[in-house]
This record gives sequence, structure tokens and C-alpha cells, in this order.
Amino acid sequence: MKAKRLLITGAAGGLGQVVREGLAGYVDTLRLSDIADLGSAAPGEEIVRCDLADREAVDALVAGCDAILHLGGISVEAAFDSLLRANILGTYNLYEAARQHGVRRILFASSNHATGFHRLDERLDETSQRRPDSLYGVSKCFGEDLARLYFDKFGIETVSVRIGSYFAEPTDRRMLATWLSPRDFVSLCRAVFDAAETGYLMLYAASANRDQRWSNAHAAQLDWKPLHSSEPYRAAIEASVMTEEEAHALHFQGGHLAASWTVG
Ligand code: NAI
Repeated sequence: MKAKRLLITGAAGGLGQVVREGLAGYVDTLRLSDIADLGSAAPGEEIVRCDLADREAVDALVAGCDAILHLGGISVEAAFDSLLRANILGTYNLYEAARQHGVRRILFASSNHATGFHRLDERLDETSQRRPDSLYGVSKCFGEDLARLYFDKFGIETVSVRIGSYFAEPTDRRMLATWLSPRDFVSLCRAVFDAAETGYLMLYAASANRDQRWSNAHAAQLDWKPLHSSEPYRAAIEASVMTEEEAHALHFQGGHLAASWTVG
């Protein structure tokens, strides 16, 4: 598809800042939104401060956009009330506005924590059962299901991307398998919005790391080839002392989120 105005929610966050730069000039207009400050608009940008939990504000935010990169929300384990507002109500408001305003395609930033309770030695694909490892993971499962509903009922296409670990560099043993480099995420965004058709699609997002846990064979219609790999960082990471906490967290794909309960 060729989007003219692409809305990015969560544009002030870690991923948001990188795609703001990486997608500059990709469409006629990038509409950037967050509850936090986004600075001033560069040429080709529009800035709209908006709380995703505010239905009317989200409706106005989405008007005039034909595609959405939905990164906004709580990105860590948190108290249920916070997740409820930002991730559940916020995602509902976004999809409802998308329906009202004829948005064609959404990239939904889901998470590997939707399947984080699978053991480390399991290889997952799109048919694997969901096993969220946290309330945060449950909120991402809700978003995926909502996206599926809005495709089946209204034809709004979504690519749900279960992001691995998005960091400038991998920093621990788990990330040797789950690391997603900034550049590989930007190229994935382009592949999602470049594709002629996606329907509803779920895929995992990690760089081309040696120890792959996830298969995206079913998503071959997306022209995405991650270029980076965690291999150059392996020696230093494996030479570091493994803490007891890290060793325990390594039993599960979701790492420390599966191994702990921090919100009660
Ligand atoms: P982040 O926490 O840096 O950015 C999220 C942004 O959403 C923040 O700028 C925040 O102000 C905004 N936000 C929070 N509540 C909001 C609300 N009620 N209304 C409007 N904006 C609100 O997160 P990051 O790392 O950039 O992640 C982006 C997305 O990708 C998130 O949805 C996260 O769950 C998902 N993800 C990220 C991973 C990673 O490794 N960074 C891994 C898996 C998923």
C-alpha cells in the first residue's frame, strides 16, 4: 500500500524516536503522537499530544490517517489499572477510531511476552499457544485479538509484531536470541507498510541471531530480511558472570517477566 499520512503512537518512546528518524520522508506526512513531549515538528511531521485512554482525543488523532504504527502504551510489567488505561482501553480507542476513519493498515507492537511462559527449548511459530508471562503480556494478547476481530469484521489489516528485545546492543544471555536492532525494526516497519496486502498477520521480530526461537515462515509475503545479528556480542556476554536471577530467568522465553511477580 502507499500510505500518505502515517500515524505513529508512542512516538516519544524508545522505538518511537528511532522510527521517527528512520521513516522520515517515507510518507507525505508522519503524524507523531504521545502523552509525553515530542518537541517541535520537522518538515513533513505533525505533532498531536494525546492520551490514548481519551476516546474523543483518539478519534481526532486518527482522522485523516490511512495507516498506523501503534507503539504507544505501557511497555513493561505494571499495575493492572495502568495497563487497563493505556494498553487495553487505549488500543480499543485506536481501533474504533481506525474503523470510523477508514484506516487501512495497522502495525501493532505486540510482544514476545504474549508467549513468554513457553520453555526456552521450544521453537514457536504462529500456531503456538499463547502463554503470557505477565499482566503486560495479557494486555498484548488482548490487542492481538482485538486486531484480529477488526480484520475479520471490518477488513482493517493488522500486522501484530511480537517484538523481541529492542536495544541498541544485546546486553545479556537472553538477548543473544531475542535481540532486535533498531535498523532491523525500521526495515520491518517499511516492509509492513510496503506490502500490497497483509490481511491479519502475526510475526515475531528479532534480528538474524544464531539461536532463533521463533519461526516466521508463514509470513514470507513480507519482504523483510533482518541484517544484524547478536553474534559479535556473544563472547563478551558469555564471559560475564551469570547471576542467580539471570540463571533462573533463562528457563522461560519471557526471561525475568516469567520468573517473577512484581505487581501484587
Ligand atoms: P516506551 O515505553 O519507550 O514507549 C512507549 C510510549 O508510549 C512512551 O513514550 C509513553 O509516553 C507512551 N504512552 C504510554 N501511555 C500512553 C498513553 N496512555 N497515551 C499515549 N501515549 C502513551 O516503549 P518502547 O520500548 O518504545 O516500546 C514501544 C512498543 O513496543 C510498546 O507497545 C511495547 O510494549 C512494545 N515492545 C517493546 C519491546 C522492547 O524491547 N522495547 C519488546 C516488546 C514489545
